[in-house]
Amino acid sequence: MSDQIVLTGIKPTGTPHMGNYVGALKPLVEMAKTNKTFVFIADLHALNIIHDPNQIRQHTYEIAAILIALGLNLDNATLFRQSDIVQVSQLATMLMNITPKGLMNRAHSYKAAVDKNTAAGLDTDAGINMGLYTYPILMAADILLYDTDVVPVGADQKQHVEFARDIAGYFNHVYGETFKLPEPMIGADTGIIPGLDGRKMSKSYDNVIPLFAPESELKKKIMRIITDSKLPEEPKNPDESTIFQLYRHFACESEIADLRARFERGGMGYGDAKRILFEKINSVLSAPRTEYERLMANTAELDTVLASGAARARSVAEKTYERVHRAMLG
Ligand code: ADP
Ligand code: TRP
Repeated sequence: MSDQIVLTGIKPTGTPHMGNYVGALKPLVEMAKTNKTFVFIADLHALNIIHDPNQIRQHTYEIAAILIALGLNLDNATLFRQSDIVQVSQLATMLMNITPKGLMNRAHSYKAAVDKNTAAGLDTDAGINMGLYTYPILMAADILLYDTDVVPVGADQKQHVEFARDIAGYFNHVYGETFKLPEPMIGADTGIIPGLDGRKMSKSYDNVIPLFAPESELKKKIMRIITDSKLPEEPKNPDESTIFQLYRHFACESEIADLRARFERGGMGYGDAKRILFEKINSVLSAPRTEYERLMANTAELDTVLASGAARARSVAEKTYERVHRAMLG
């Protein structure tokens, strides 16, 4: 067991898909086997995108149920809703006062939104709310509140963790040692999982396979994966095939080598490859899917897990916040 404190947040902005599973959820469940981990559902961060509370609640339950169904170790991992800990909003308000505005101007997500407006000939800040603009400050509060050492994130979030570290540094400089300095951890490159149309699997492209789609829907989606028009007898390149790219995250080494050889040898049509993929994914996911479905039908049980996570998280948050309050306001 490592003594490093790991923390990560997952935004409840969509039903988790196979790309989220491979790139984020599966590595997180692995990490929580050996580390004290804070895992929260970042519902406050979802607010700058989703304005329907029912959608946020639904996605929050889905994420909690998925993590539990995948076997998240709840002794090591504290699983909670971000908004259950009021200290995070209080800390964000405090951090506003030592965060340079110029730092926010440099945030990739804000810059991308400005560039999009400029390209469309709109006002630079059209449609950009302050939740988006100050997103990195709330994220710094998330990270600093729990004395975090390590933040496992996708490459797109690295800058945000660096900002949290910068903000902690400014704070410590002005008010004395108060915060630990966190480090981003970019996980082993799992590669980008392609979606049904061959582009990156993403809710923004409407090309996803939901992680726990019911069996019949899973089969239908897999059968819809686009392929090139090679005939069954022709050799095929597994590294350019969405079917193979998905398969390699579910099968064992020898099965992967076997399917690779069948692609390269020729003699297997894409329809057969899809059936092999479906059977594999279905067998790996069927037990956790049953548990997921049970939990989604018993949201009171999820509320209990989230409430007990919140109680554990709060006991740490209160102490940190108290330190900050004393440092800033006496
Ligand atoms: P989406 O692109 O569907 O909006 P998010 O940006 O919410 O997904 O993804 C959350 C995390 O899931 C990311 O930080 C990344 O680690 C992982 N992820 C998302 N899509 C993929 C993908 N296609 N392949 C690998 N990992 C992914
Ligand atoms: N910003 C992250 C994302 O979009 C989610 C998140 C919010 C987060 N707070 C965090 C991740 C703190 C790590 C640590 O995916």
